[in-house]
Amino acid sequence: MQKLYVLTGAGMSAESGIKTFRDSGGLWEEYDVMTVASIDGWYKDPELVLRFYNARRRQLETAKPNAGHFGLAELQKYFDVYIITQNVDNLHECAGSKHVLHLHGELTKVRGVDYPSTVYDIGYKDIHWGDKCEQGSQLRPHIVWFGEAVPAFSDAVEMVRDADAFAVVGTSLNVYPAAGLIDYVPSHVPVYLIDPNEVPYSRKVEFIKEKAGVGVEVLKSRLMKQFNLTSQ
Ligand code: OAD
Repeated sequence: MQKLYVLTGAGMSAESGIKTFRDSGGLWEEYDVMTVASIDGWYKDPELVLRFYNARRRQLETAKPNAGHFGLAELQKYFDVYIITQNVDNLHECAGSKHVLHLHGELTKVRGVDYPSTVYDIGYKDIHWGDKCEQGSQLRPHIVWFGEAVPAFSDAVEMVRDADAFAVVGTSLNVYPAAGLIDYVPSHVPVYLIDPNEVPYSRKVEFIKEKAGVGVEVLKSRLMKQFNLTSQ
């Protein structure tokens, strides 16, 4: 099968009721990004940061994948689909996508501050100041904050160099290095971009000006045509 790589952002989960960051009414209107989502913010007020992510985790517990997540999972019938997501939710996995790389970490995982490589699943539970890992180090969310490296990015670059098709869904392409991934896709590879709003992009793309739910359906029909496939 041909390899389809898909970079997703907050817009992917908007129809599941999870707020995006930079849209009007988005999370960064309500919260100061550097206070709740940066390594400096963590050092200044870790309890506030823990409360912010506890609230995100509780909200995720009741969220369901939307038609866009299910549509991408269904594309696995026709393509080797690899999702590279900036989202920290687990909705791609819940919809049945088998290969999901989380560039910015995962809400349902935690790690000790001093032991970054031992990661624990906590599901939808809260973490509090004073909760420790097995080695006695304070637990923190397994999230990549502003001011921290993005360890999965080099794997993502290697992956997209091998793409037969590439799609971008629901990201404002504001945050690097994730936004730069599109530049590593070989120039002959078709790139599709799904977003209800204009977003800046640095190369030729097929722009599908739709929300993720409808946009992924349109993507499917364009891919089937491009690769001469028929629906099962
Ligand atoms: P943004 O909030 O910056 O962008 C969301 C994008 O989704 C915008 O382009 C919207 O137009 C689009 N959108 C809104 N509703 C949509 C829908 N129903 N279907 C499809 N698209 C829709 O979110 P990201 O680009 O994901 O990082 O933000 C990148 C990173 O910045 C996040 O991972 C997060 C944030 O700060 C950290 O916190 C480390």
